[in-house]
Amino acid sequence: GLPERVTIYEVGPRDGLQNEKAIVPVADKAEFIARLVAAGLRTVEATSLVHPKWVPQLADAEDLLAVLPRAEGVRLPVLVPNERGLDRALASGISEIAVFGSATETFARRNLNRTVAESLEMFAPVVARARENGLWVRAYVSMCFGDPWEGDVPVERVVAVATRLMDLGCDELSLGDTIGVGTPGHVTALIGALIEAGVGVDRLAVHFHDTYGQALSNTLAALRAGVTTVDASAGGLGGCPYAESATGNLATEDLVWMLDGLGVETGVDLPALVETSRWMAGRLGRPSPSRVVQALSRG
Ligand code: HMG
Ligand code: MG
Repeated sequence: GLPERVTIYEVGPRDGLQNEKAIVPVADKAEFIARLVAAGLRTVEATSLVHPKWVPQLADAEDLLAVLPRAEGVRLPVLVPNERGLDRALASGISEIAVFGSATETFARRNLNRTVAESLEMFAPVVARARENGLWVRAYVSMCFGDPWEGDVPVERVVAVATRLMDLGCDELSLGDTIGVGTPGHVTALIGALIEAGVGVDRLAVHFHDTYGQALSNTLAALRAGVTTVDASAGGLGGCPYAESATGNLATEDLVWMLDGLGVETGVDLPALVETSRWMAGRLGRPSPSRVVQALSRG
């Protein structure tokens, strides 16, 4: 069966924008987030508190967080890799963070300058201190299906990293198909293995990039396996600066179109969302790659 309701975890302002070469002004980022919230999205990943040299587009994180209105029932998580990032999050009054690990050694090295084991050591005090301070903590695992340097990633490897992250005390685990190579059977197998390993399906989220056009099919497989939180990026923006061949995330509009059709509640106003992505595409100077944005923009 399918869930009655799905929580969409919007990543456009973070995953969507982090790869953009031209720096988007803080005012545009703030407006983007405000419009996403107005369209009904209740969780919007706002930015990253990483080293500014690693992700120049998000070097303005503090300035953005200072101008974002905080509203009851709206969550604005930020990416935090280490204790320095957590200090910055606490100073900005953030109440939700996400650490981001990797299932593969090559990506851990390229994205975090650490081995997988060293990155888990880096996250341990972050998660512990975050929880002491009452923060909600998500953990990502990247390269859950395949890795551009290492090829296929075995399910057992993902389960090993994922369970260690959950043992640190994270509230939610997001399974990243960073380069979009996953297919539905693999999704079903991975989620089954995680449930078998004791990770409650209510704690799982899926994070599909649409590089190979599989993101929606993979999402449907995840929903059938019991997942109810789905990451998506307005207009299909996105990619990862440290992963070769990572393109945009699953477009939030494509997801909402499918869920509306299935009668699954999301709380999202599709026309308002499409209008937001069209506006953002105008700011970025190129059309949205989302099929639904394109279809609803004709004539
Ligand atoms: P490092 O060079 O090993 O850092 O980078 P370090 O700990 O050795 O520190 C070096 C210097 O950086 C120090 O300054 C620190 O203070 C400073 P110095 O003493 O030399 O003046 N520093 C910081 N400054 C500001 N904020 C910080 C911070 N940390 C250290 N948080 C580090 C390690 C983790 C910092 C670096 O590798 C990094 O910032 N990586 C971020 C990469 C990133 O953001 N990637 C994109 C997000 S992941 C993604 O997109 C995948 C996802 O979407 C899921 C999927 O699709 O699979 C989530
Ligand atoms: Mg991503």
